[in-house]
Amino acid sequence: MQFKGLTFGIPKEIMPGEKRVAAIPETVEKLVAGRATVLVEKGAGEGAYFMDDDYRKAGARIVEDVAVIYAESDVVLKAKEPLFNSEKNKHEVEMMPRGQVLVTFLHPAAPDNHEMVRKLAEQGVTSLTLDGIPRISRAQAMDALTSMSTVAGYKSVLMAANRIAKFLPMIGSAVGMIQPANVLVLGTGVAGLQAVATAKRLGAVVSAVDIRPDAAEHAKSLGAKIIDTGVPAEVAIGEGGYARHLPQEWLLKEREAVAEAVARADIIIATALVPGRQAPVLLTEKMVQSMSPGSAIVDVAVDQGGNCELTAGGEIIEKYGVSIDGTKNIPGLVPASSTQMLAKNIYNYISYFIKDGKIELDLEDEIIASSIVTKDGALLHAGTKEAMGLN
Ligand code: NAI
Repeated sequence: MQFKGLTFGIPKEIMPGEKRVAAIPETVEKLVAGRATVLVEKGAGEGAYFMDDDYRKAGARIVEDVAVIYAESDVVLKAKEPLFNSEKNKHEVEMMPRGQVLVTFLHPAAPDNHEMVRKLAEQGVTSLTLDGIPRISRAQAMDALTSMSTVAGYKSVLMAANRIAKFLPMIGSAVGMIQPANVLVLGTGVAGLQAVATAKRLGAVVSAVDIRPDAAEHAKSLGAKIIDTGVPAEVAIGEGGYARHLPQEWLLKEREAVAEAVARADIIIATALVPGRQAPVLLTEKMVQSMSPGSAIVDVAVDQGGNCELTAGGEIIEKYGVSIDGTKNIPGLVPASSTQMLAKNIYNYISYFIKDGKIELDLEDEIIASSIVTKDGALLHAGTKEAMGLN
């Protein structure tokens, strides 16, 4: 009776274009089996093709007025951060009663979200952010960031494949053999590895680059040709095994090392990222100019400023005949699969800290400590405090 006596609320997302939802009928059924009451806003799953009737069959109550969901729920599950709800003429946070638990992607350190985080603290909401869940093995089943990077890596290749003027695989035809396209993947973490695998499945010739030897090794095992950056491991790897922000001299060397592959590429998938930092600029304007007209870049690292200096956030532009895609919510373009992964990650996460109908947030636990943002009026998230200048 894990969830006995608790009410969970699933509002429809109000961010423009957001089609995901925080629970699917399968996770609702599990909550209900644990004796929870589940309230789902009418039409909440429609964008991802999960229909009201399916939630009803899973045991949820469909509610028309989202204010009722906020007023009655102990725990609210969402996909994106709370925003101003113009239909209600109220911020979503204003509908949350004191002591309510909110689980979602808050991206609390991002300057645009500081005011919302302050509101959550003032309102006495206990907020937990999915992007704070650490990438450690016991948290893997809860790691929504990894799930969304998997979706982004996959979809970015399809987006680029649709835009270029060529076949991806080698095609044998009556007029001779048509050569396969060249795909270059920058950064082979979660998103980059999925991009390598997807491009290989489509038959392209794939090259990849990463300053962490382990990451490059993984890409190699998926069939990519590795480009050596020449950056020594002690320069490339920092605390916890993550990549480091490269000093300018090494960044310039890396650009030189990849220049030839860039000029040859029909598609570049850019995913290089250093946690908590601006993404490294690996593609300069001159390098884009060296590419063949008709080729395509998808700058997946756009939220951190992008790996290409020409990328425009949220837009697809064309420069020197090369399309540069800065789409921000790539997982939203695969709404059913990304919702399925997200909802399961969220279910695993809440199951971790809810036992016998009690919400137990142990601040000594690494998973909770790094994902909790506000509680009892206080802001607890270290990265956010630092970003707000409160440390
Ligand atoms: P990750 O941390 O797993 O991978 C980043 C990789 O970049 C690491 O392997 C790192 O070693 C490598 N890297 C760092 N500096 C480098 C350099 N100078 N040269 C080459 N490689 C370098 O991150 P993940 O999860 O794969 O995410 C990648 C990016 O995709 C992030 O910026 C993330 O925010 C973004 N993303 C964007 C989405 C969208 O809709 N646009 C959706 C999901 C993720």
